[in-house]
Amino acid sequence: MARLDCRDEVIVDLFAGIGYFVLPFLVRAKAKLVYACEWNRYAVEALQRNLHANSVAERCVILEGDNRVTAPKGVADRVCLGLLPTSECSWLTAVRALRSEGGILHVHGNVKDSEECLWTEHVSKLLYEIARSEGYCWEVSVEHVERVKWYAPHIRHLVADALTVDAWVYMSLKKIGRITTVLDLHACTT
Ligand SMILES: C[S@@+](CC[C@H](N)C(=O)[O-])C[C@H]1O[C@@H](n2cnc3c(N)ncnc32)[C@H](O)[C@@H]1O
Repeated sequence: MARLDCRDEVIVDLFAGIGYFVLPFLVRAKAKLVYACEWNRYAVEALQRNLHANSVAERCVILEGDNRVTAPKGVADRVCLGLLPTSECSWLTAVRALRSEGGILHVHGNVKDSEECLWTEHVSKLLYEIARSEGYCWEVSVEHVERVKWYAPHIRHLVADALTVDAWVYMSLKKIGRITTVLDLHACTT
């Protein structure tokens, strides 16, 4: 996250904790604004301290409570979903948080090593269906899957970077080779 350039971006972190992603987004990636959702008051207190210690508090809005209630709608260029073993409980909230043009979702999950491709497909299909149910004509393309670590024997912590974009824009991007779609490229070989 720290290596991204998020200068013009509004980001929603649905599971902010003490700021493990919020801080790199603000300090290194220079995000314009981060909405940090967190329901644990001790984590919120630590997050506030960390934001002040890094002089970035003015670019962060902390939303204390259940993200399914508190998260903003229609504002985000990027949404971070850092909850294990699965963040699926908030995928609808994440889609609603994105701008109507779409954006990027970083979807975390614990996945059996033999089911990585199935999971990636599931992420892509379910986000597509959620977007349709919300009235968005988006295509969903998993552009990258990061293997973060082994969480337990045969269980990996994965992050799928899912691009959601208007269907017409998607076709144009695909034509000029800007969409890589992990599912097409790797065809479930790993
Ligand atoms: C695994 S921690 C991740 C924090 C941070 N993203 C990280 O990687 O260090 C998940 C955080 O999400 C919070 N959380 C879980 N469900 C939530 C919900 N529905 N709404 C808001 N916060 C939630 C927990 O309190 C916890 O601090």
